[in-house]
Amino acid sequence: MICKLCKKREAEIILPYARLALCPECFRNFFIRRVKRTVEEFKMFRPGELVGVAVSGGKDSAALLHALRIGFPQQPIVAIHINLGIKGYSSDCERKVERQAEIAGVKLLVYDLEAEEGYTIDSFSKTRWRRRMCAVCGTIKRHVLNMVAHREGVKALATGHNLEDTLEVMYKLFLSGDFKQLARLYPTLPSTHPKLVSRIKPLVRTPEHEALLYTGYSEIPVREASCPYSNKPIVDRVKRWLDEEEHKSPGFKYRLLSSFLKLTRIIRASLEEKGPRLNLCRVCGYPTSGEVCAKCRVASLVSPGFRV
Ligand code: AMP
Ligand code: FES
Ligand code: ZN
Repeated sequence: MICKLCKKREAEIILPYARLALCPECFRNFFIRRVKRTVEEFKMFRPGELVGVAVSGGKDSAALLHALRIGFPQQPIVAIHINLGIKGYSSDCERKVERQAEIAGVKLLVYDLEAEEGYTIDSFSKTRWRRRMCAVCGTIKRHVLNMVAHREGVKALATGHNLEDTLEVMYKLFLSGDFKQLARLYPTLPSTHPKLVSRIKPLVRTPEHEALLYTGYSEIPVREASCPYSNKPIVDRVKRWLDEEEHKSPGFKYRLLSSFLKLTRIIRASLEEKGPRLNLCRVCGYPTSGEVCAKCRVASLVSPGFRV
């Protein structure tokens, strides 16, 4: 089969939802164009603004960094990685992000949790969080990414959440009736405080499988190890259902995303002006609705420097 776009090279990638069969080169251009259109549609950043890309070592953020660099050649971009200090995992992640940043030609900032704060994610395996390591890790990652981005002068912080990640969480929040959290999954979350950096998800329209193909065809190395604390089943039930529906009716995932986005716009409009009043955390000085932020509260369990 011949590529539908260049009509020259052999097609290797079939995208039923777009009725396209593409050669690797046209696929990569297609991938980059979709990231560009998503950035523009959701007004994720403006020319000249410093964009931070949170890179974990995985395929999604690796593809994101590369596609943003090519799609926006004039944009100032910096990659940010947190070394979480997880044995048998974090050092592989750091090695891979170093290569990814080098290939993209982007400066990399590494925040080493142990060196900077005196503890690692492993430290929590002896606390009451031991059965919820991903939750505590998520709290720390969110806070540290914002802090590093803010200190660096980043205007928009991009993460590699893809189409299925977003749909899975949106669907679960929808079923549980947590519309406030659902609204927070909007692809652009503007800053609500001078110390909170705007969050963006330029891969919200990118299927997971295509991020993997993109890194493969671009020869971008990605981490091999998987996090020892991940308690997610290999195939999530909701993701399997999404794949089945997409198979029966190509474009299903996009139609579902479009409905969820409509819903989040309505919820966000009704919530505006009612955001919580923010104080500055007594320990780290970053915004929180309480007195001490969630990250400093958990950090105090494993590091004396955070005791209040
Ligand atoms: P996860 O929550 O692990 O699915 O990751 C979601 C996104 O968060 C990734 O695509 C990255 O953009 C970002 N991220 C996760 N882990 C790290 C890390 N250790 N350092 C920097 N960014 C990360
Ligand atoms: Fe955070 Fe696995 S990466 S618990
Ligand atoms: Zn704090």
